Amino acid sequence: MEIRPACSLWKGRRLIRFSEKKIDRNAPCWCGSGKKYKNCHEAFDEKLRAYELEGAEVPDRSLIKTPAQVEGIRESAKINIAVLDEVGEKIHAGMTTQEIDDIVYNTTVKMGGIPADLHYEGYPKSVCTSINEQVCHGIPSDKVILKEGDIINVDCSTILNGFFSDSSRMYCIGEVSEEKKKLVRVTKECVEIGIKATKPWTFMGDMGNAVHQHALENGFTVVKEIGGHGCGLEFHEDPYVSYVSAPGTGMLMVPGLCFTIEPMVNAGTDEIYQDEGDGWGIYTQDGKPSAQWEVQVLVTEDGCEVITY
Ligand code: MF3
Ligand code: CO
Repeated sequence: MEIRPACSLWKGRRLIRFSEKKIDRNAPCWCGSGKKYKNCHEAFDEKLRAYELEGAEVPDRSLIKTPAQVEGIRESAKINIAVLDEVGEKIHAGMTTQEIDDIVYNTTVKMGGIPADLHYEGYPKSVCTSINEQVCHGIPSDKVILKEGDIINVDCSTILNGFFSDSSRMYCIGEVSEEKKKLVRVTKECVEIGIKATKPWTFMGDMGNAVHQHALENGFTVVKEIGGHGCGLEFHEDPYVSYVSAPGTGMLMVPGLCFTIEPMVNAGTDEIYQDEGDGWGIYTQDGKPSAQWEVQVLVTEDGCEVITY
């Protein structure tokens, strides 16, 4: 027979686990602010513990970014944004996605950064370029030529001094169909809604659900298998960020948590499949278009800072 501790016992165990991390009140705070613990994160830790006792999933201390780390991530993001600005200026019908890769690689390196995608788990290029029914992880190629009417997601990730930034944008190539135009607009609105819903002491599921509802209200679906992620000290950190999630579920958002908001919104079915040929590309099952925008946010005391604007 499986032995499960009674609820109160389980809570007791959690209490012990948390109190192991207790710090002297007059010692420097763990966050690196230089302030005494009692004048810095002590009240925060108490609040977090109360949530944990109620059964909430709370972030580990290692996920709370210190002021110095935030500064490092912001610097990385400056390159990340500049690269996408550069892509935006140069992108046009007739160019190959390899040329986009070249722009990303050259601009990133010229500014002192490293493209985070390059060699990531064997990924062969510096950026992901996903066109129309391609949902994400499209590999740039000199055989793929952009044409009038395409919509493309360019997903760019950057490392600077060990700090990671990650964002993506949609670009419309010339005149695109009304359906694609709406898909691109609504997906951007989904991210804006996600940004508004990102505030401390609420749950990831609250934010994810707000994003999802906006897509549904517009007749679209949201990919459930691939979501956002913590980002900053590593490319992909905890938590996993779902946009098909119930309010009150998922990790508690607290100041210092840094993650991406990057819903993949489909015009038709939410079903997707992976390209067996290159092992990366993800496509919609029904061949209808998919769009995605991505920002990286830092939860603050009263909302969030968009690091990749
Ligand atoms: N940039 C993607 C993200 O938003 C990850 C791409 S991983 C790669 O998380 F290997 F495909 F580049
Ligand atoms: Co990402």
